[in-house]
Amino acid sequence: MNEAFPGFGRSLLNHFCMENSYINLNNGAYGTIPRVVLAEKLRLLKLAESNPDRYIRCEMSDRYTESLKLVSNVVNCDWDDLTFCHNTTAGVNAIVRSITAPEFTSNQKKRKILYFSTIYGAVENTLLFYAKLNNFDLIKVNLFSTFDSEGKVEFDNEKIARALKDRLEKEKGHIFLCVFDWISSVPGFLFPIKSLVHVAHSFDSLVLIDAAHSIGQIKVDLNDLNPDFLVTNLHKWMHCPRGSALLYARKELKNSIYPNVISFGFSKKDKTFQDQFGYVGTEDQINYFCTSKAIEFRNWLGGEEKIINYTHNLAIQGGKLLAKKFTTYYFGADDQIASMVNVKLPKCNKTINDVYMAGFLKFMLHKHRVCFTPFKLNEEWFIRLSAQVFNCLNDFEIVGDLILKEINSLENGESKL
Ligand SMILES: Cc1ncc(COP(=O)(O)O)c(C=O)c1O
Repeated sequence: MNEAFPGFGRSLLNHFCMENSYINLNNGAYGTIPRVVLAEKLRLLKLAESNPDRYIRCEMSDRYTESLKLVSNVVNCDWDDLTFCHNTTAGVNAIVRSITAPEFTSNQKKRKILYFSTIYGAVENTLLFYAKLNNFDLIKVNLFSTFDSEGKVEFDNEKIARALKDRLEKEKGHIFLCVFDWISSVPGFLFPIKSLVHVAHSFDSLVLIDAAHSIGQIKVDLNDLNPDFLVTNLHKWMHCPRGSALLYARKELKNSIYPNVISFGFSKKDKTFQDQFGYVGTEDQINYFCTSKAIEFRNWLGGEEKIINYTHNLAIQGGKLLAKKFTTYYFGADDQIASMVNVKLPKCNKTINDVYMAGFLKFMLHKHRVCFTPFKLNEEWFIRLSAQVFNCLNDFEIVGDLILKEINSLENGESKL
C-alpha cells in the first residue's frame, strides 16, 4: 500500500467497505474486509473468469499452497499441517466426523467427549450429531454458573483448569476428546488454553480447539500450543473475506482427517492432507487466496503485535468506560480478555425478555446504526463488544449513551420498543 498508515481508529474507516456512519462494535460476529481485500477478491474473480481452464487447471493448486505457506508464518507451524476450509463450523464437522468414525477409533472404553458449557451452539450440535451416530457420550462441564459475593460472575483460570482436571480424574481412561474454545463466543472469554491442553493431554485425551476468534485477535503459536486439532476463522479477525478458515491437524493425525465432502483427493496415490481438502469439487477458493492481501494490509497497519495490542487495550478501556456509565462491571482479568469485552447491562426494574432484546438490537442497528452482541448469562443481560482496528474509545462512549438512554426509557415506561 502506497499511502501512509493514518493510525488506528476512525481514520481507518475509509479503508474498509462499511458505511461511514456505522459504529461496528460487533466485529467478532462476522468480521469485515478492507477495500484492498475486496479489490483483490474481484481481481481474482475476473482472472478466473477470463480463462476458467487456465485458472482451475494450472493456477489454483499453486495459489492454495502459496497461501497456506504465507499464513503458516502467522500461526507458526509447518504449512503442510494446515488446510483451508470454509469456516469453523465446517472444519469442526470434518474433524469430529473423521475421528469419531469407527476406522479411527475402535477403543470401546474411551467413548466420551468433554466440553465446557460455553461451547458455540453449532459446535455442540456437531458433537451431538456424531456422538449419536458413532456411539459416544458427551460430558458438559458447567462454567460461569455462579456469582461471587459482589454479584459478579465468578471466573478464575485456576478454577477452570481445576474443573477440567477434576472431571478428567473422575472419568479417567474414558475421555476420547476434549473440545475447548480458545476464545468463547458469549461471553467473549479468553481461556487459559495452554494449561487446558496440557491437562487434557496428561489424561491421554485428544484436544480439538475451536479457535474461531483466535487468528488476528491473539497471538497464535501452534508449535508452542501443541493441540491435536484446531480451526480458526480467517474472516473474523484476520480481514479475509467471509467463508475462509484454517484447519490444523497434528502431523501424525492429519492423514486421518477427511473433508465433509469427499472428492478426487480421496483416491489419489500418495495423497496429502492438502489433496483431500484442496480440491472439493469445483469449489470457489478465491476467499482463501485473498490471505496474502489481508496479511499485506495487516503489515501496513504495523503487524500482528501492534494490532493485537491496540484492540486488546481498547477492549479493556471500553469495558471500563461502559461499566462506569452503567454502574455495573465488565468481567475478566486483563489476561482473560482478548479484544472482546463483556459488560453487564444497567439495572432495570422492568423485565427484559428475549423479545424486547431482539427489538432493542434491531432498533440500535436500524435507527442508530450501531451493533454489539447481547447475551444472557444466569438470567442476567450482558453485551459483548468487539474492539477492531477501526474502532476508538468514542465508539464505546456513543454506544453506551444510546443503551443507557433506551434502558432508562424502558424503566420510565417511555420505551417505544
Ligand atoms: C466460538 C465460535 N465457534 C465457532 C463459530 C462458528 O464460526 P462460523 O460461523 O464461521 O463457522 C463461532 C462464530 O461466531 C464462534 O464464535
